[in-house]
Amino acid sequence: MCGIVGYVGSRGAQDNLLGGLRRLEYRGYDSAGIAVIDEHGTLDIRKKSGKLRVLLEDLAAHPMADGATGIGHTRWATHGGPTDANAHPHLGDDGKLALIHNGIIENFFALKDELVAEGYEFSSDTDSEVAAVLLGREYRATGDLVEAFGRVVGRLNGAFTLLAIHQEQPGLVVGARRNSPLVVGLGNGENFLGSDVAAFIEHTRRAVAVGHDQIVAITADGISITDFSGAMVPVEEFEVAWDAEAADKGGWSSFMAKEISEQPEAVANTLAGRITAGRVDLTELAGIADVLRSITRIVIVACGTAAYSGMVAKYAIEKWAKLPVEVELSHEFRYREPVLDSSVLVISVSQSGETMDTLMAVKYAAEAGAHTLSVCNTQGATIPRESSAVLYTRAGPEVAVASTKAFVAQVAALYLFGLHLAALRGTLGDAEQAEGAAGLQAIPEKLTEVLLEGERIEQLAHWMADTRAVLFLGRHVGYPVALEGALKLKELAYIHAEGFAAGELKHGPIALIEPGQPVFVIVPSPLGSELIHSKVVSNIQEIRARGARVIAIAAAGDVSVLPFADEVIRVPLAEPLFEPLLSVVPLQMFAMRLAEAKGLDVDQPRNLAKSVTVE
Ligand code: F6R
Repeated sequence: MCGIVGYVGSRGAQDNLLGGLRRLEYRGYDSAGIAVIDEHGTLDIRKKSGKLRVLLEDLAAHPMADGATGIGHTRWATHGGPTDANAHPHLGDDGKLALIHNGIIENFFALKDELVAEGYEFSSDTDSEVAAVLLGREYRATGDLVEAFGRVVGRLNGAFTLLAIHQEQPGLVVGARRNSPLVVGLGNGENFLGSDVAAFIEHTRRAVAVGHDQIVAITADGISITDFSGAMVPVEEFEVAWDAEAADKGGWSSFMAKEISEQPEAVANTLAGRITAGRVDLTELAGIADVLRSITRIVIVACGTAAYSGMVAKYAIEKWAKLPVEVELSHEFRYREPVLDSSVLVISVSQSGETMDTLMAVKYAAEAGAHTLSVCNTQGATIPRESSAVLYTRAGPEVAVASTKAFVAQVAALYLFGLHLAALRGTLGDAEQAEGAAGLQAIPEKLTEVLLEGERIEQLAHWMADTRAVLFLGRHVGYPVALEGALKLKELAYIHAEGFAAGELKHGPIALIEPGQPVFVIVPSPLGSELIHSKVVSNIQEIRARGARVIAIAAAGDVSVLPFADEVIRVPLAEPLFEPLLSVVPLQMFAMRLAEAKGLDVDQPRNLAKSVTVE
């Protein structure tokens, strides 16, 4: 759950490392640090608790000698609090070696006891320092950083990406990974390492993903990869589709504001080239066509917002492909002995492609004989690499911790998948397929319209800045939208928020309604079932009668809610299945504006990190 960067070349390492850390700060922001081998061949480190800004200020006040080789880290604390001492890099070999770590070393107590017994001393509470000291010991025994890594990785249990440099081997950065991410950026006379491609995208778009249980060594003009047993592994280069500008905040007040505004494009890009003449054709899934024809069940595994996108997609996939779809939180899935075999397709949904709970669910499913498909936003990430097939969302880099554009891109990708599956299985006629494809293609423009409601929502958020609890109600596909609206408000504005299925209200939650209680209601599209629509309108009357303050999210032209709602926020009219792609947006904007009204940091809410790479 930390961001790591490495650089070796001929330019100053510090600027490259700090620039990479700035882009990776979303992965953790408890502390930051860098290590550089300076021009005299001496290893220097600087590390500070707090956000990257604190380290930058310290370096500005007390500059550190620069060099051409270095590593950098931004931390999300797991073992040991966010202090200067626990910040990375950690030192080994009497201060000649520096190491940074992302992940958790599960057997660090036993290793620490072993090293303490040999007389080694420790200055932090972290599991990571154990790896640094161990690597230092093995370096002394071998005199070679790559060989020392080979010896150390076999001793570590758990998940890790490690990067290290040693002052006796300037011009070399070595890394190793197991279940945590690591990507190489290939430059001209310089090379980079990063937790993801955002770390080096301003310098190069040529990249190499380092596989599981592999060790990578980079110099200014070379890269070599071996597996943990020392056997060479072929280097496979890919071109990163994102550009540097996409990874930057542009003129927006926050990454979140920027990412909300990018939703029309995120959906348009996700659809691009995948619909021809009214038919969805996912060429990237050609290799699993037979699997898709033969499966009898789908299980979607994901966490948080990604799980809600899966819940929305369940309605569409079941309707179009006539296959049962279950949606499970990844961390619950693999601990309850789910019934799996080769007739099941397990679809993981993950923006980062690194969420450990989801990764473990995918591995569990694959071991149990199920087929696996990853819906992911990050090229070269671990989950797609662990899956039999991948369907990339093309939302571009999502930097704000709270997920927004990834959600709509995930729903769009899963809908594409549903239509593709239906076509393969012959469950949908040509006209219905074309209707589904057209419904999707209309979304980018409709999203642009929804964004125009921004000012009204900002006003509403200001009025509600003192609110202590908010409820969200939805039915059918509106239910997961209600859950997502509540999650956004909790994580950004630190307000107690609950999402309910509207039909469940009378079974308990209605007791929460008291005069003035704000309730957002996602009103189903009037183009769908009249029964569902009228039931939600009745729910609105029930809560209004008990004093609730109703904020309805309703389709343009739907006047049925006017007599009962205190506020109506309009979204363009769409068929019911497509409405979640629109109705979620006002809820994202509301949570962001309310958090801003409370003076909170919307890009980096407290206690959270963008990519949850621990279980
Ligand atoms: C909420 C949020 C999280 C993520 C969840 C899964 O705004 O961002 O709930 O959706 O941690 O992350 P990914 O999609 O990276 O697997």
